[in-house]
Amino acid sequence: MYQALYRKWRPMSFDDVVSQPHITATLKNQIAAGKTAHAYLFTGSRGTGKTTCARIFAKTVNCLSPRDGEPCLECEICKLADKGVLPDMIEIDAASNSRVDDIRELREGVNYTPEMCKYKVYIIDEVHMLSPGAFNALLKTMEEPPAHVKFILATTEVHKVPETIVSRCQHFDFHRIRTEDIVSRLEYIAQQENLSLHPDAANLIARLSDGGMRDALSLLDQCVAYSEDISLDTVSAAAGIAGRDHLFDILDSAFARDAGAMIRRIDELYAKSKDLSVLCSELITQFRNVMILMSGKGTEDLIVCLPEELERLKKMAQNTDMDTVLFFISALQSCQERFSRSPNKCIELEMCAVRMCSGKAQGGQAVSGASSAAVSALNERLTKLEAAVARGVPAKAGKPANVPPAPPPKPLKKFDPNNYTPLNEWNDILQIINTKVPAIGSFLRNSAACIEGDMFYLIIASDFALRKFKRSDDSAKLKQIVNDYYGKNFGFMLYSSHDADIEDQDNPINELLKRAQQANIEVEVKNKKN
Ligand SMILES: Nc1ncnc2c1ncn2[C@@H]1O[C@H](COP(=O)(O)OP(=O)(O)O)[C@@H](O)[C@H]1O
Ligand SMILES: [Mg+2]
Ligand SMILES: [Zn+2]
Repeated sequence: MYQALYRKWRPMSFDDVVSQPHITATLKNQIAAGKTAHAYLFTGSRGTGKTTCARIFAKTVNCLSPRDGEPCLECEICKLADKGVLPDMIEIDAASNSRVDDIRELREGVNYTPEMCKYKVYIIDEVHMLSPGAFNALLKTMEEPPAHVKFILATTEVHKVPETIVSRCQHFDFHRIRTEDIVSRLEYIAQQENLSLHPDAANLIARLSDGGMRDALSLLDQCVAYSEDISLDTVSAAAGIAGRDHLFDILDSAFARDAGAMIRRIDELYAKSKDLSVLCSELITQFRNVMILMSGKGTEDLIVCLPEELERLKKMAQNTDMDTVLFFISALQSCQERFSRSPNKCIELEMCAVRMCSGKAQGGQAVSGASSAAVSALNERLTKLEAAVARGVPAKAGKPANVPPAPPPKPLKKFDPNNYTPLNEWNDILQIINTKVPAIGSFLRNSAACIEGDMFYLIIASDFALRKFKRSDDSAKLKQIVNDYYGKNFGFMLYSSHDADIEDQDNPINELLKRAQQANIEVEVKNKKN
């Protein structure tokens, strides 16, 4: 029967346990000197050797011929213990035995003498899962333990263990296992198992396991399922980190301030059912990596990614500034916070993309720059929208709800659609429109806009598009989006770039154009006035 590598390679003696010398040395000394405690608490993240050390301890205190605090591995006790059938080594999983009755049973058992060993050793795993009643029962047992009983409590969450329990135990805190220690253990095991494990593959496995040996060995197991010749590619396929170019594409687009490209990628992934919260945290992780690369030499080993990914990240780090990266991270973090309250994660992330691309950053905050006014207005709008959504009211442009909207202002002077200063933020606003009201987006291709005082001038590329746009029910939504963007109530004037008389009677060419458009044929009509 196939045995998982992490079980097969569970250390049998203290010297086999890596990266925890502060614990193994102490336990060995105590055993050798015959001065063991009656209760221990092993804490630390998963896969760092807590259960392993508890079992070695139980075995060694009972071993018939221990040497310097290590088990002999040959006597009957050691052999039964290694098979997991030593009757006096009792493992209790508190996660599934959390009730007070379970611990009562334990209390009764404690009073019986060991079957064949000197000590009965109770190993209570995930001890933080015990109910308050069970903790109390356990505490009573630990207050007056028979001399033949030892307890080892293990947990990943020590803060959930009552202080009264902690204070009765000798406390050992297991550290995350160092990357190089995981690498050498992986290499040793691979050699014993006749696997070829490339050094960079071993390194990637170690870094992906975040200090946990169990995860490292499980990942090695997964790699073996792919191939016995384990390369970087094998690891990236087994760990599911292959083919994540899309992540780095989104980063590139953000640094290029190309909100359109970002949104396209996000939409593609959304269409493929990608969980957008996951995407958001992956993006944060990668921007964090850029931040780490920028914060000094010798930081590369803090980054867990593939070599070609590292190259891309380095390039980004060289071509940006820290404020921008911090701003991106905080924008994504607040997007992530909003996810839980938002009915539409996709729009949330798209708005975040637009924000990221339209703001300049200083100290992680969006500030001045070409469109700083727009960005702060947008931020203000978003804050108001959030507050409104939280109150459950439909959000309106930045006005108190009970004040009737002022009548739209009138233009002061005649606007010249052939001579105006185009609005820088228009592309950003268009991206919002394209997401929220795709139906009108097509009419706005190649359009431009201009703000003069309280007037908003929209210059649409062709008469045809302008006419279609005016008839569309959605044109009111455009006004809403623009007003929301600026937190203002604009007067709107629509033009075509040809300044044609838009109220012209329909002419027969329009019917033709309509059919062409329905058939997806692109037609350009040259205006006779130009
Ligand atoms: N410090 C370590 N040295 C060597 N192997 C380890 C170490 N910690 C964990 N392992 C490996 O991971 C597996 C699980 O370890 P375990 O002791 O059960 O972890 P936990 O701390 O979660 O109780 C072991 O069987 C062993 O293969
Ligand atoms: Mg364990
Ligand atoms: Zn022995």
